[in-house]
Amino acid sequence: MAKITAVIDIGSNSARMAIFEKTSHFGFHLLYESKSKVRISENSYEHNGYLQDEPIQRAINALKSFLWIAKLHKARKILCVATSAVRDAPNKSILLQKAREIGLNIKVIDGDRESYLGALAALNLLPYDSGITLDIGGGSTECALIEKHKILDTYSLDIGTIRLKELFLDKGDYKGAYDFIQKHLQKLPDRFKHSRVFGIGGSARAISKAIQKQIQYPLSTLHAFEYDFLEHKDFIQQIYNTKTQELHKLGIKEDRLDSIQSGSLIFHLILEHFRAKKVVTSGVGVREGVFLKDLLNNKTSFPPNFNPSVRNIKDRFIRNTQLCKYAKFLASKLFISQKCFHLIPQSFATHLLIATELCNVGVALNFYEKHRHSNYILFNALNYGLTHQDRLLIAFLTQYNNKKLPNDYPYQQLLPPLEILQYLCLFVALANLLSKNPNPKDFIFTWVEENHHLSLCIEHQELSYILKEKLKKLLTPPTLSLKLC
Ligand code: LMR
Ligand code: MG
Repeated sequence: MAKITAVIDIGSNSARMAIFEKTSHFGFHLLYESKSKVRISENSYEHNGYLQDEPIQRAINALKSFLWIAKLHKARKILCVATSAVRDAPNKSILLQKAREIGLNIKVIDGDRESYLGALAALNLLPYDSGITLDIGGGSTECALIEKHKILDTYSLDIGTIRLKELFLDKGDYKGAYDFIQKHLQKLPDRFKHSRVFGIGGSARAISKAIQKQIQYPLSTLHAFEYDFLEHKDFIQQIYNTKTQELHKLGIKEDRLDSIQSGSLIFHLILEHFRAKKVVTSGVGVREGVFLKDLLNNKTSFPPNFNPSVRNIKDRFIRNTQLCKYAKFLASKLFISQKCFHLIPQSFATHLLIATELCNVGVALNFYEKHRHSNYILFNALNYGLTHQDRLLIAFLTQYNNKKLPNDYPYQQLLPPLEILQYLCLFVALANLLSKNPNPKDFIFTWVEENHHLSLCIEHQELSYILKEKLKKLLTPPTLSLKLC
């Protein structure tokens, strides 16, 4: 597979391009992303689906720019798909021919394929293995039912933001829009019910952004942002009941103003139909799906326990992988050794291992203050397959291991209780320290409890001089002592 791949998605509302760099077998990251409000579907719904001259020209102009930018990024491969408006258009060949003339081959995909690609992205790049993907586009809406990492069913509904706007809302026919959605929803197979919904596409993201603003969410990251549908249902309703001129007050950006009313109406009615409780925002969709299909070589998921962001960080920032492996091995040994004392719940094992393995990533920026650099790099670069809480915790552990915690540490309400943090921090620090001893695999850890006081005995044949010194200075939770045995 090419090292740099550009993927273009000609949606019915906007055209977008993402450029990905592959850094190892399955490791990758996003190099560039751009969108243009081409609105290829403009005025097509009143003309039996025929694409109009102006939107076709806008699309070709945008595609030309995309191709130029892809070339600048040295993309070896360019994959381009077109969805609803183009697939429905009796005159699509005009667009396809014009695109060929500028050197681009557009693949028109059907609704099932589109649903499948969105689902492929969601199931591999979001932290959950079950739910329904809901991708609201300008012309159609794609749903896929995912259960235990498998795509069980896909369905495409001919409901879209621009379709609804042009056929009903622009004429003030609100009831017509409502009935249209309900009529289409009748066709959706009964099994499309789930408490968790993955919101894909521009409309779902705009709604999430507005909710983040409303609740003063402390992070600005959208991918994997979660909220309770029932809690925010009224707000979503408020979006489609608000006049366009007033929408900016709800945190809706300029380029969404003319499509968010239909978008939030569709979103609301479909989530009710699914009986959704939780919405997980997806920053990824069809484009990532196209890329992953190529990357995974037609498999549907990464190998078990594989995280593409972790891999990518290792590929880009870690020089000495052997040292990281030793540290990870020791962290896992420490974790297993404490199990009978239940100091750290099983659910934090992954955080411990990732934090230990990537703890020194900040050195890539500067050795001095590497803890702070690691925190920033990890929170921002660990974007796939983890919740916001997961990312905060891992970043926290890399910053505060063997450091005194400030009284008011950031994001306290999103992190586990203090005692768990203290133990996790100790294990990250200890594993990193001990990994630099000769024969780091030979450590033995034993726990002893005497008079409500815990001791961790660290045993090794030859403990290096400098490590002994450093071990004495290691910060431990107040109820624990370290002993060299
Ligand atoms: C689409 O139509 O699928 C996209 O253009 C989504 C959007 O609303 O930008
Ligand atoms: Mg789309």
